[in-house]
Amino acid sequence: MTAPARTRTSGDLIRAEEPVLAHNYHPLPVVVAHAEGAWVEDVEGRRYLDMLAGYSALNFGHRHPLLIEAAHRQLDRLTLTSRAFHNDRLAEFAERLAELTGLDMVLPMNTGAEAVESGIKVARKWAYEVKGVPADRATIVVAAENFHGRTTTIVSFSTDETARTGFGPFTPGFRIVPYNDLAALEAAVDGTTAAVLIEPIQGEAGVVVPDDGYLAGVRELTRRNNCLFIADEIQSGLGRTGRTLAVQHEDVVPDVVLLGKALGGGIVPVSAVVARREVLSVLRPGEHGSTFGGNPLAAAVGTAVVELLETGEFQRRATELGGVLRDGLTGLVGHGVVGFRSRGLWAGVDVDPALGTGREVSERLMREGVLVKDTHGSTIRLAPPLTVTEEELRSALGSLQKVLTRGA
Ligand SMILES: Cc1ncc(COP(=O)(O)O)c(C=O)c1O
Repeated sequence: MTAPARTRTSGDLIRAEEPVLAHNYHPLPVVVAHAEGAWVEDVEGRRYLDMLAGYSALNFGHRHPLLIEAAHRQLDRLTLTSRAFHNDRLAEFAERLAELTGLDMVLPMNTGAEAVESGIKVARKWAYEVKGVPADRATIVVAAENFHGRTTTIVSFSTDETARTGFGPFTPGFRIVPYNDLAALEAAVDGTTAAVLIEPIQGEAGVVVPDDGYLAGVRELTRRNNCLFIADEIQSGLGRTGRTLAVQHEDVVPDVVLLGKALGGGIVPVSAVVARREVLSVLRPGEHGSTFGGNPLAAAVGTAVVELLETGEFQRRATELGGVLRDGLTGLVGHGVVGFRSRGLWAGVDVDPALGTGREVSERLMREGVLVKDTHGSTIRLAPPLTVTEEELRSALGSLQKVLTRGA
């Protein structure tokens, strides 16, 4: 007889997944059962500092009390209506999110990939109805090494063969240019261009921060060529880099901002397309939708997230502790780290390949009680909750130093 889940060990639970769970992930061998703040605890009661924070979905830490309270309050009242009816939480969420981002209108969705898909649809419709691109000729310019999600259309313009192979035929209408290259972007844009879609910092590519002036350059170029600037802030946004949005480091306001991950407070999936009125106004009833998008529970949690960000506290913490992170990593360069890129509480760290792959370093860190995730090759990414304390951050950096100096 199979033992009840609560008595199973980590090893039992990992083995139990094997025959019944699709193998589309390769998780670290840790089975989390509880979490609070920057800490998670496995089924055997071992504690780990979470330096990944759900790829930024946990910017406010695990189970932030104000977010949990907002969710509980809403759970006791109303959870789902569908958009067939109005609900009494959605207007406030949309108003405050639009205000937070400096834009006008909100299209609520659920996951990040859905927000990206929705942004692409809206941009195409804008191109036909407002810009006057001939039917079915609209193009969208994207960057190499991008990561925008996993749907069929999104992997159509990925340059990661693992994400694409076996999933064709692909959606046409995308042009790929090198990231951080304004001349290449200029050459790719023409009268058919509906939008330029980029990450202000490429997260999955290894936290690649573009040169100063790139985002402002994209803004100027898209304005001059009458096409939309769509900033995918799903991972970079909502406080992570020290600003509400990463584009704000260059005082840029895109036409469309895609948000997700942290917008759901680590509780429910919440995403949104936030845009200028002229852009989102192209959608009319029946043309786009989602059963769960804008549900009252999501709106209540999303509003509580916006409230946290309105205080500016998390952006400040990301800036201040981002300095501690940067200084700590600078001290490791030449001592197991060959280079790193960081902005706010977000870093991509290239470990000396002689010391192991990113995966191997992540496993060693796990044994030291610190959870991180590799990206490609020997690069690991650090993205702790913005609630992490300086002491916790220094302790994680100490563990990194330890595993790098001790080597394999
Ligand atoms: C920049 C960016 N866009 C989109 C996505 C897709 O989000 P989701 O996994 O919620 O579909 C991600 C996820 O990592 C992301 O980093």
